[in-house]
Amino acid sequence: MAESLAFSKTAARREIYAEIAPQIEALVSGESDLVANLANICAALKETLGFFWVGFYLKKENQLVLSAFQGPIACTRIDLDRGVCGHCYTTREIVIVPNVDEFPGHIVCASASKSEIVLPIFDKTGEVFGVLDVDSDKLDDFSETDAEGLQKIIKIIEDLI
Ligand code: SME
Repeated sequence: MAESLAFSKTAARREIYAEIAPQIEALVSGESDLVANLANICAALKETLGFFWVGFYLKKENQLVLSAFQGPIACTRIDLDRGVCGHCYTTREIVIVPNVDEFPGHIVCASASKSEIVLPIFDKTGEVFGVLDVDSDKLDDFSETDAEGLQKIIKIIEDLI
């Protein structure tokens, strides 16, 4: 396993996503433990893209339950119809929230969080297995570039589950 990730610190996000996707794929390819892989993916995304918070909520017993993450402590359980994560779960679509204060029902885990992107992760039967949640301490920090870049990472995870 490589000890560190190679990426261009000054590059635009699109380039960084392209650089890290194959490295993340290599990182998880030799390991069968899902949480170990999700934990390394969080660390890789936080280190290379500098996100305020990045983590996974996995569907367990009719809730989304906190799994691997990097950043400040976060709420541990989210009902399937609550918050941005629940909205992603029920609509099965990527949700970009430019200003969390304007999203009805947004769940505040850290007051420093200003904008958010959440992507669904599907299992082999087409059910939502969980979500990837990324928070920024800047307003309007996520775009289609992030949706596309993070979707590459989601595909890697979907191959594991
Ligand atoms: N804000 C999320 C909750 C999770 S935290 O951001 C880590 C939501 O509204 O679903």
